[in-house]
Amino acid sequence: MKILIINGPNLNLLGKREPEIYGPRSFDDYFLELKSQFHHIRLDYFQSNHEGKLLDKLHETGFDVDGIVINAGALTHTSIALADAVAAIPAPVVEVHISNVHARETFRHHSFLAATCEGSIVGLGLEGYRLAVEWLVRRSRVVQKTEGPGD
Ligand code: DQA
Repeated sequence: MKILIINGPNLNLLGKREPEIYGPRSFDDYFLELKSQFHHIRLDYFQSNHEGKLLDKLHETGFDVDGIVINAGALTHTSIALADAVAAIPAPVVEVHISNVHARETFRHHSFLAATCEGSIVGLGLEGYRLAVEWLVRRSRVVQKTEGPGD
């Protein structure tokens, strides 16, 4: 089972960036913990500050992996191209936001991605990524069971 986490712009700065909003922990540190919790699956992580690279990654992996967790950062609120890419791929995608975007500036209230994702986890800190991966693992097992061998 393969699951990919994609982080967008400025999320490479987690731990240093506005810790009062995003917390004190770097994503690399958190990802190590996550990998040990999900050691039975293949869990990969990709981050880019460039919209085109995020699109390329969705195209490259979206026909292959069992699920994608995406935090597109500010591109969530601007990028129709990312929403189109999520809609184009068969992999189920869960949107995550570390902060509660609905309790912040109004420009953060709208997500172009939300409608093309299976669901969204918002405001639960880094824990949101773990919950999203857990749900994708369970979903994949349910789908496998329903399809049965040979399908
Ligand atoms: C964010 C929320 C976005 O509005 C913001 O631009 C980010 C991080 C979050 O995880 O809370 O970069 O996606």
